[in-house]
Amino acid sequence: MCWQGEREVTGRIKNIIISCLVITGCGLLLSLERIQEGRFSAYMPPDSLQIPLKDQSVMDVLVKLGEEKPLHYIPEQNPDSVRMGKEIVYFGELKDGSNSRISKYFVCTDCHNQVLETDDPADESPERVLEYSMEKEIPFLPGATFYSMYNKEHWYNGDYEKKYGDLVKPTRDTLYNAIQLCATECSQGRLMEPWEVRCIMHYYKSLELKVSDLVFTTSEINQLSFWVGKKNDKAIALIKSQYNQINEAHFGTSKIPKIEGYVPSFENGKYIYQAGCLHCHSPAKDITNFDLSMDILSFKFLTRKVDNYNHYSIPHITRYGTYAIVGRRQYMPMYTYENMSEEQLLDLLHFVETKANE
Ligand code: HEC
Ligand code: HEC
Repeated sequence: MCWQGEREVTGRIKNIIISCLVITGCGLLLSLERIQEGRFSAYMPPDSLQIPLKDQSVMDVLVKLGEEKPLHYIPEQNPDSVRMGKEIVYFGELKDGSNSRISKYFVCTDCHNQVLETDDPADESPERVLEYSMEKEIPFLPGATFYSMYNKEHWYNGDYEKKYGDLVKPTRDTLYNAIQLCATECSQGRLMEPWEVRCIMHYYKSLELKVSDLVFTTSEINQLSFWVGKKNDKAIALIKSQYNQINEAHFGTSKIPKIEGYVPSFENGKYIYQAGCLHCHSPAKDITNFDLSMDILSFKFLTRKVDNYNHYSIPHITRYGTYAIVGRRQYMPMYTYENMSEEQLLDLLHFVETKANE
């Protein structure tokens, strides 16, 4: 079976691509021929086991092209481990009660999504993410999505060193350690058992990028089929240019952004409030007893001190979050520039101020 798909992505070429990935007994023969009129490539050995390209994982394709396997590489995902990992991520513990909760305060899904947050993994800008999230009703969260976490190469990047100091060092190159840091620091929970981390890794593998998630133009596909087998390093580089290898992180300040000529969007602000702030502050959640809602009182409270640059101003709380303290360990994670742009912060302010004055 070959993959035959039509991709319609804003700003990219819309095309019909028929691609085949052929694996032969003696190794790999990657054939990305563009096939006319539905005919199969003559180069394809008849006895080959063909796996539809869209179902291939990006990692597998890279490894077959000669890319070094990462430390967390898992040759085959184990369905039981995936299920257990998923239970830990969604509920903080196994449903059969055989382990204790990772954190009393949080579950991973409070801060991390489990789906792609963009229609093009090469563009995870907050603008693209917000647009896509509004279309698909995806929460707007401060943590990076778990979808494609398996494909990243470094963790706790950029300014997270400022927040966690030397703690980030062992996480920079090792996903295992990044999970542990998040369990203990970001989730304010316990260290996980090795088998628990392993289950999360298998779960991450189930959420790894597939070739069909990437957005290739026709000329990139042609380029790729030309390089495969001849210049694998170039083929690898081209595939890698279709998604981000790290989640960047830069911290903002409590200043109200000043952007010449920017007209804030009420609708964007509303979405950020509802799918971001209320994701944790809705009274239906027991993450915090600081409840917010679509009630006028919430908006009045949030705008009350907006000009004071103090603890409660929206820019301050959004950019710094709060810190866990002894006796009160639930804290609010910050939104970095990569999670929420300055324009989006203005959208949020505009929405809250408009509602407060209604
Ligand atoms: C209270 C919020 C919160 C909770 C709960 C939480 N995280 Fe995180 N996590 C974050 C933030 C914020 C970051 C740093 C930003 C980011 O995701 O890149 C982070 C980072 C990570 C990273 C590194 C991501 C990267 O690209 O640098 C991993 C892996 C991770 N978390 C796993 C987990 C797991 C597994 C759980 C559940 C056991 C969990 N997190 C629970 C907020 C949270
Ligand atoms: C991942 C969960 C999460 C998200 C998302 C979140 N908050 Fe929070 N927020 C918290 C927690 C936890 C606290 C700590 C409250 C407590 O002590 O119970 C907090 C505290 C606050 C406080 C009170 C600060 C203080 O000094 O007590 C404000 C105001 C606030 N958040 C506003 C917001 C706004 C506005 C947004 C959206 C931009 C937002 N929060 C998004 C979890 C979250």
